[in-house]
Formats: sequence, C-alpha cells, structure tokens
Amino acid sequence: MSEPVKPLLTARYGIAESWKLVNAERAGAYQVARQALTTREPAELKEEVKKANIRGRRGAGFPAGVKWGFLNPQEGEHVYLVVNADESEPGTFKDRSIMDLDPHRLIEGAIISCYAIGAPVAYIYVRGELAFSIDRLEQAIAEAREAGYLGERPFGVDHPIDVHVHSGAGAYICGEETALLNSLEGRRGEPRLKPPFPAIKGVFGMPTIVNNVETIASVPDIVEMGGDAWASLSHLPGDGGVRIYGVSGHVKNPGLFEAPVGITMRELIDDYAGGMLGDRPLKAVIPGGSSTPVLDPRRKVDAPNHDHPLHKWHGQSEIDVPMGVDTYRALGTMLGTCCASVMGDTVQMVEACRNLMRFYKHESCGQCTPCREGTGWLVDVLDNLVGGRGKPEDVDLLVNIANNMMGNTICAFADGTAMPMLGMVQKFREEFLEAAVSGLPQGARHDDSVRSMVEGVA
Ligand SMILES: Cc1cc2nc3c(=O)[nH]c(=O)nc-3n(C[C@H](O)[C@H](O)[C@H](O)COP(=O)(O)O)c2cc1C
Repeated sequence: MSEPVKPLLTARYGIAESWKLVNAERAGAYQVARQALTTREPAELKEEVKKANIRGRRGAGFPAGVKWGFLNPQEGEHVYLVVNADESEPGTFKDRSIMDLDPHRLIEGAIISCYAIGAPVAYIYVRGELAFSIDRLEQAIAEAREAGYLGERPFGVDHPIDVHVHSGAGAYICGEETALLNSLEGRRGEPRLKPPFPAIKGVFGMPTIVNNVETIASVPDIVEMGGDAWASLSHLPGDGGVRIYGVSGHVKNPGLFEAPVGITMRELIDDYAGGMLGDRPLKAVIPGGSSTPVLDPRRKVDAPNHDHPLHKWHGQSEIDVPMGVDTYRALGTMLGTCCASVMGDTVQMVEACRNLMRFYKHESCGQCTPCREGTGWLVDVLDNLVGGRGKPEDVDLLVNIANNMMGNTICAFADGTAMPMLGMVQKFREEFLEAAVSGLPQGARHDDSVRSMVEGVA
C-alpha cells in the first residue's frame, strides 16, 4: 500500500458542521488567505502555483500555473475567475464533496486566486441539479462577506474581491469551459470556437481563468506549504500534489479518498476502496469519468523501448501504472476527473457501452454535425447489437463512426464520446462480435449491476 498522507483537501470533512464559518475557522480556514493578502505580492503567489505543478483537476490536466501565465489584460480590461463546478461527468462526484463539506476552502482558494491573477470577481458555476451544494455555497459566501473576507476591502486590504454563485440548468455541455461562459452570460450553452482562449477573451469578452473546483480548492495548501513542498507530495514528476480520487461500482467500500498523485489503480481499488465486491474478478475500470477509455487488467503495458515513457512498467498490467496525467495519456487513456467506475465480471461490456453512449446522445448540444449525428448513430448500432439485430460488420461501423467524430467538432465532447467507444471495442472486441452473432446472453440487458454501475453514479 502506498504511504497514507495527512489529509489536506479533505482535512475538515470529518468535523461537526464543517461547512459553517465558525467551525471551519477553528480548523484553520482563511488563515492562508489573510496572510497572503496582507503580506505577499500577487506575483509570488502565481509563482507558488506554477512551482506546485498542479495539473487541472478536470479534463485535460493543463498546468494551472501555466494557464494563469497566459493572462495579459489590456488597458480597460478586467480579469475574471470562473470556477467550474458543473461536475456532470458520469462516475464523478468529488467537486460536490468540497462544496458540501468544506465550501470555505473553495472560497478561500477563490480569494487567493483572485488576488494572484488580479480578478475582482469570481463566479462559481454550479450544475443546476446540485441544489444542496448551491445552498451550502451561498450560505458560506454570505458568512465570508459578513466577516469581511469578501467585499471592498477583504482582510482590510484595498483589493476588492467578490464571489458569486451561478446555477446552470443541468446540461453536461455547460461544463465545457466556453459553453459555460456562454451560459454565464445568459446565452445558449454552446461551445465557442477556440482561439481565442478564455484567458484572452472569456466571459463578457474579458480575460478569464476557468479552473475546476478541486484545482482552486488546492490553492490554500499550495500557498501555505509552498509550491515545491506541495509538488513533492506526488509520486510523479511534473504532476504535483494530492488529489481526491473517487471510486464507484463493484468495490466493497466505494467513496472518495485523498491520496498522492501517482498511486496505481490497483492500489486505489484494493487498498483504498476495500477490494472487489464479493471478491469477484475485476473485469474493467473506467479510470476518470465516462469520457476516459477503459482499462483492462488483463492487458500488459507494451513499452519495450527504453525511451518510452512507460518503459519502467513494460509487461505489467495496465492497472499497475501510476495514475498521472502524462502516464495515463501514454497508456492511451486519460486521468480525467480521477473518479473510477469499477466493473466486475458480471458486467456485459456492450450493454455498459450502450448505456454510456445513450448519455452522450442525450447531452450532445447538436451544434456540430459529426457529434449530433454520430452520437445517435452509435446508439442505433449498439441498440441493434444488444437487441440481437446486429451484424459482425457493425463492430467496425462503430469504430468508423467514432473515428469520424474525433477532432471534427468545435469542442472535445465528440472526442470524449469517441475515445471510450473506441477503447471498449479495442479491448473487448470479442464481446461486441459475440453480440453481433447471437445478441446478448440471456438476462444481460437487465443486469441491475450494469445499470447502477454506469447510470446511477452521475
Ligand atoms: C463536454 C465537456 C464537459 C466538461 N465538464 C467539466 C466539468 O463538469 N467540470 C470541469 O471543471 N471541467 C469540465 N470540462 C473541462 C473544462 O472545459 C475546462 O477544461 C476545465 O474546467 C479547466 O479546469 P482545470 O484546468 O482546473 O481542470 C469539460 C469539458 C468538456 C469538453
């Protein structure tokens, strides 16, 4: 088992009524923000975040310090911070825990980040269905304002900072940063063409930093410990710190676990999540939300060349590679949200795949033809396979449709649909072919475990 770490992000989760200012402050909340705003320069704080090597905690794993460095506001422009709390990716449930159990950590992170990047206002854009999180955040913001930590002179410093909550209306696409910005402005939640990137032209046409909840909630610890110290908590170079890992599905102890970057999937499942439910074999695991290609524990890392980034793990199972943004990319998948959906041997992959694709068909915003048509077409083909109406050629048709979606749309939604589709066919092709020849085995369509596995966790 990897070394247990002293919790940082989740340190206050266990205290009574941790979401109230009085309790959070007793456990240290706002000390770092006070110290940062009263004694440190914004540039120093930006430097700490850069040194921390924190890779964005959602999606592409872009280094936050580098993103902040893209800001170059022109005369008359205001910088904005937007905290992405849309968290709609199936299988993902980490950001809401921060908002529900320690909203003051997120607000403190937003205050320090606003000060560092020169933003007077932060918007926290929350997925509409998360009504409970929205209430908790609004109460916490009111308390912070009342205490003088937000407003015209936070902590008595002449640098106005305010934080507002904006509720979405429950569309997954509004988690994509430019669709989010449109929605925040009251427009239809459709992604914008990039460039210009938000750091140049974001909300209201102004330079905007969009970061995930966990990214911003990590900032107080980064500033308190110093970027270098925080980076070194990780097991991997260039990918710093600790993260909140989520595990759902066929494990004994599903939930959220804080651990260093770079533990392995096997450790996450066995040591943190208690091992497989009923001690049944692990069949597959979706590593970081439904958009990330599946891992197959039977597969061995194929990296015989010494210069391959995964050479050290050549011949080992995929689930023994340390979980990092770059290691998982080299493995042909993505770390994504770092919330794993674990599937035991009872799961029928064609049905699990159809279930996921139905989600994408429902959520495509329809702006780009390959995505609008492709998601529906994938579901039609999968419906045929599941319903016993398929043909062996359908398996290659799925691959063909997915390949024609990839890279041909405005945003990464289509890639996030195509990649898991391709991964499932690549790794479990024999099950797709079997379904094409004889439909699904008796009962597989109604296996509750499959349904709860993929649907119930979003
Ligand atoms: C379809 C789609 C959905 C997304 N949903 C979310 C989301 O719910 N939360 C989030 O933080 N980022 C989401 N993203 C990623 C954002 O576009 C953006 O990269 C992210 O908020 C940046 O934060 P980070 O750099 O701190 O990870 C999504 C991206 C796509 C393409």
